[in-house]
Amino acid sequence: MVLRRGVKKNKSPARRVYLAVLHRPAGVIPMQHSENTHYRVEPGGRLRGCLRVPGDKSISHRAAMLGALAEGDTEVTGFLEGADSLATLAALRALGVEMEGPEQGRLLIHGVGLHGLKAPAGALDLGNSGTSMRLLCGLLAGQGFEVVLTGDASLSRRPMRRVTEPLARMGARIETTAEGTAPLRIHPAGDLHGIHYELPVASAQVKSAVLLAGLYARGETCVSEPAPTRDHSERMLEGLGYPLRRDGARVCLEGGGRLRGTRIDVPADISSAAFFMVGASIAPGSEILLRHVGMNPTRTGVVEILRAMGADIQVLNPRRAGGEPVADLQVRHAPLHGIEIPERLVPLAIDEFPVLFVAAACAEGETLLTGAGELRVKESDRIQVMADGLRALGIEARPREDGIRIRGGRFSGGAVDSHGDHRVAMAFAMAGLVAEGPVRISDCAHVDTSFPGFPELAREAGLDIRREGA
Ligand code: S3P
Repeated sequence: MVLRRGVKKNKSPARRVYLAVLHRPAGVIPMQHSENTHYRVEPGGRLRGCLRVPGDKSISHRAAMLGALAEGDTEVTGFLEGADSLATLAALRALGVEMEGPEQGRLLIHGVGLHGLKAPAGALDLGNSGTSMRLLCGLLAGQGFEVVLTGDASLSRRPMRRVTEPLARMGARIETTAEGTAPLRIHPAGDLHGIHYELPVASAQVKSAVLLAGLYARGETCVSEPAPTRDHSERMLEGLGYPLRRDGARVCLEGGGRLRGTRIDVPADISSAAFFMVGASIAPGSEILLRHVGMNPTRTGVVEILRAMGADIQVLNPRRAGGEPVADLQVRHAPLHGIEIPERLVPLAIDEFPVLFVAAACAEGETLLTGAGELRVKESDRIQVMADGLRALGIEARPREDGIRIRGGRFSGGAVDSHGDHRVAMAFAMAGLVAEGPVRISDCAHVDTSFPGFPELAREAGLDIRREGA
């Protein structure tokens, strides 16, 4: 197999925007996402070779935030230089945290300690990034200064009461719009106090926001979740020396402790690898090796679902990196069949459904997803947007309130609208491998939020994809 290099970091549009604003006052990031980037995919490709997709987005956000709050330096490698995690870095810099990089995924954070953040000079614009907004909301709820968090049109539609309500119970004062959305105005905190919170929805962002506020709270903060969600915050808090009590579905911490700087190796993002897992599974003649993929058991639902559909995925060389399990994944083309997706797997594959729907569209028979209403409040309404796109390409897809029913068939060529949703755009790019004609996907600029260099890497692997202007 040929070793393929990862992303050409310095050329990424997200990085250009980031570098352009590095020296601006106040952490205000002009997110210059034009609506004008489109993809055109010619059918007939197959995926071959050995590739490493960019670093895990969830882990990158947490590495930046916890490294900033630690005492001493934290050295991060494999950091995702996508617009979302760069938005977190810009916000932290505006809060007075000094950092070097990121450069080729290496970031050196000079931690300021839990009480070392400073009031920013202006609002913090978090662009498209829900994780930045919800986690920072928790982290900033206990500070002694006022902060305003804003985002782009998509982020400004997403529900924020799910974080502001538990934080208010801890004593935080945070204003939302009347609809419960951003901008969020976080007032200087009085004393926060710990709570025992039962998450009404399985959300790692809400769990993490409450735990981050708990670092500043008097007494014990506990969060119980209705189903397991990604536990990167818990693992990283422990990695930076913060004592946690984990007991089944419940995690607890005491406020008033300290975090110590460390080294963090961010694995490749399984959510980005998922596009190649599906592409290789559906395109005859494909065989790829995905290197150093994060295999945290709270994230591997996509592997379990694809295998249940008949995919040929081998987990090779399992090991640990930075407190997280990683492995290389070998994926070969295999005929897929439809399944009823077990609801217990939904939170473990929550970001992978757009591309899993593409797998379902290529499978023999029907696939049914239920218990996934959360997909309606992601970067787009992923149930409706995917159903519209699948139908535009000739696939029978019937959305339901909490999921979708998809009958496997053959993709025609045609045009789909990604609605500015990075994962929708990349999912339909993979559909192009097996379509009967070219597939044109509009509004793809946001792919840069999680996967800078996607078209280039996909092209190297064998997808005939081109960027087009308006
Ligand atoms: C994330 C949690 C998930 C996921 C998102 C990243 C995180 O969101 O969809 O892309 O890093 O904690 P929810 O917490 O809303 O499920």
